[in-house]
Amino acid sequence: MTLRYRKILLGVTGSIAAYKACELVRLLVQDGAEVQVVMSPAAEQFVGAMTFEALSRKPVRTALFDREVEMAMSHIELARWADAVVIAPASANCLARLAMGLADDLLTTLCLATRAPVVIAPAMNTAMWENPATQAHVHALVERGVQVVSPAVGEQACGETGPGRLPDPEYLRAVIEDLGTDRALQGIHAIVTAGPTREPIDPARFISNFSTGRMGCALADALLERGARVTLIHGPIDIPPSSDADCVAVTTAAEMLEETLKRSEDCQLLVANAAVADWRPCAPTDRKTKKAQEVRTLELEPTPDILATLGQQASRPYLVGFAAETEDLEENARAKLRAKNVDLMVANRIGPNHGFGDAETTLEVVDADSVTRLGPDSKNTLARQLVDHITARLSPASSVVDFLHAARRTTHSG
Ligand code: CTP
Repeated sequence: MTLRYRKILLGVTGSIAAYKACELVRLLVQDGAEVQVVMSPAAEQFVGAMTFEALSRKPVRTALFDREVEMAMSHIELARWADAVVIAPASANCLARLAMGLADDLLTTLCLATRAPVVIAPAMNTAMWENPATQAHVHALVERGVQVVSPAVGEQACGETGPGRLPDPEYLRAVIEDLGTDRALQGIHAIVTAGPTREPIDPARFISNFSTGRMGCALADALLERGARVTLIHGPIDIPPSSDADCVAVTTAAEMLEETLKRSEDCQLLVANAAVADWRPCAPTDRKTKKAQEVRTLELEPTPDILATLGQQASRPYLVGFAAETEDLEENARAKLRAKNVDLMVANRIGPNHGFGDAETTLEVVDADSVTRLGPDSKNTLARQLVDHITARLSPASSVVDFLHAARRTTHSG
């Protein structure tokens, strides 16, 4: 599982345990999450905002009515931004105000305004925790779907022993990691191809394209989040792929084909996102061609088509291809869907104002008789939406895994 790119809104309220939230931020950021800290005024009595700012690399939000900050990202936008809202530590006062549905400061307002899962880790004196008032508030919050992490038992800062301690940051990190994740692809082995390939001309030169591999890496992350085992077969890329994926680095189309075929036997889903070079020099040389040789033409031959090769196999995984197009996206994608015998084709526009490296893009997901438009959005968000789309297509019924294991696709589904 991965926390990469997860947007965590971390509320910190007035408790001596606020110092542990610093370590929690460090762990989340280390795992690649984006963390926005929101402190209650009481929390600032325990830990300085600067500590959280240094650890999260973002300004801490504290006030509901800060016009300057609200202009940049309003509290409603912030509530929408979050993939999860976590309050750790949550004081007795915070629990009571949330249970009442108050919205008189930034944190409580965000909790009302968000549709993301909310997790609360209370920390307080044992008597306060055991007080029927606090227990009633906890009960009310749990009833409403809030996940409450039970406080740990032990010696407290006030000298008492009992429940009330904030659990270890490492434990809280694990709770957040598992949060709201639909592990619908548990037990599935997915192969993702990503990035460009390079086809050598001589030891110094090659043919390639502008692919960055970002979409492929985002897809690998989204599949991992859904519980799949992921093999990422990638060409030369600059971004570090997720360490949770089984990564295989290749250079040429021929190597990508070889590695994909080798691993496709026990695979139920192939997402072919790589921008495989279509042509390669017929006779790459071992020695560098000198300028003085005045080579004016380069003889090329087609590279093997990885997706089409898989599409021809009698027993094949569910196949998802990508089509980078400058025009007629749907038609071109559908033509490729049929020609390569794949189940879904995802078209994206390239051209003078749209490139491989764009941070935001739009996708058209095409099957034999329908098209679904996703975006415009970031590649990470689109990757998650696309994986949800694929998951739903794999099995409209509940058990995706059973479906996939039973039906490595033996016929043309398009
Ligand atoms: N693909 C592949 N092997 C190739 C070329 C493409 O597996 N040698 C896969 C890509 O990973 C992608 C899909 O085929 O999933 C479509 O790639 P694209 O480059 O858009 O299409 P081409 O078949 O190369 O056609 P054209 O370049 O003419 O649009």
